[in-house]
Amino acid sequence: MRIVQKEEAVMLLKQGDLVVLPTETVYGLAADGLNTDAVKKIFTAKGRPFGNPLILHVSSLEMLERLVKDISIQSKILMQLFWPGPLTLVFNRSELVPDIVTAGLDTVCVRMPKQDSTLAIIEALGKPLAAPSANKSGRPSPTNLADLEKEMPEIAVIDGGQTELGIESTVVDAREKDVKILRLGSLEVEKIEAALDEKVILIEKDSRAKSPGQNFKHYSPNAEVILIWPWETFGEKVSNENGSRYTTVEEAIADLYDRFKCGIICDSSRETLYLGYDVLPLGIGSIEHAKNLFATLHKAEDLAWEKIIVDMSKIYSKEALGPTVVERLKRSAE
Ligand code: TXA
Ligand code: MG
Repeated sequence: MRIVQKEEAVMLLKQGDLVVLPTETVYGLAADGLNTDAVKKIFTAKGRPFGNPLILHVSSLEMLERLVKDISIQSKILMQLFWPGPLTLVFNRSELVPDIVTAGLDTVCVRMPKQDSTLAIIEALGKPLAAPSANKSGRPSPTNLADLEKEMPEIAVIDGGQTELGIESTVVDAREKDVKILRLGSLEVEKIEAALDEKVILIEKDSRAKSPGQNFKHYSPNAEVILIWPWETFGEKVSNENGSRYTTVEEAIADLYDRFKCGIICDSSRETLYLGYDVLPLGIGSIEHAKNLFATLHKAEDLAWEKIIVDMSKIYSKEALGPTVVERLKRSAE
């Protein structure tokens, strides 16, 4: 991995090369978003299907206005409150946006990241950056340099340390009155509803066509992820993959642990239940869970666990980032 400074990053981007940049969510694999050949390199480096469109990252509202056609009142409200920050908005796109960025759609996704060094680079380039998460397609996103080294060892990188939030931005279509969440992310749905003073529509798995990226395999480490749910949550008993029934999550996990070379990810308050086991604690509460999730999946894979067992007690939650963390875990276990 080659760590570079701002000036070199801008030069590389100007000449159509890729640079990995930190954002407040995850590291992004960036290219000049108006240069088709440069953007093509992103798809090649990630092994990403061309049918999965990219997000453009801007440093100012003037830059946004060149990329889009109309900006709804709802979008304006959300931008005012949450930009820079982990909110990606869908807009009708202008002719300036290359087809390769949008996978041929009439819309383009744009966000303003909350990371000074990255904003300064966009500003110096004078153009938006196309940047997906800097992992190989289908893998957990990198949130620190060690994990990035596994994913994109050959690409120049700006060192931003550990990313602040740990999970990608929330993707929102606020073009019309009925505001839709296309991807859960680091901006809580409740905050969006409070800002708009109305309920939003969650686009569920079945209608993932709305956000093409949701159709692809995602967030998966090189080990099987098994989620064990607390029976208290659903009023039924825990079962393992054989359909055997257990009274508690701990009992189900003990059985798996006996039969496979595996380890456990759990809320830190439950770590003492698993003394003598291989455990990676996820922190306490959904904000910490979100921040640590991808790095922990990377760690579990480095430990060569055959199966990654996740104790979902205290991780399953409808509060704050709970739904986002659970959604990412479910996808990684698919
Ligand atoms: O936090 C983030 O959003 C990170 C950082 C690097 O900014 N980026 C990121 O990009 O997560 P990526 O490419 O991994 O995810 C982009 C998501 C995909 O699910 C994609 O399908 C969706 O945004 N998307 C892009 N353009 C779209 C469009 N025009 N309409 C609907 N969904 C779109
Ligand atoms: Mg991604």
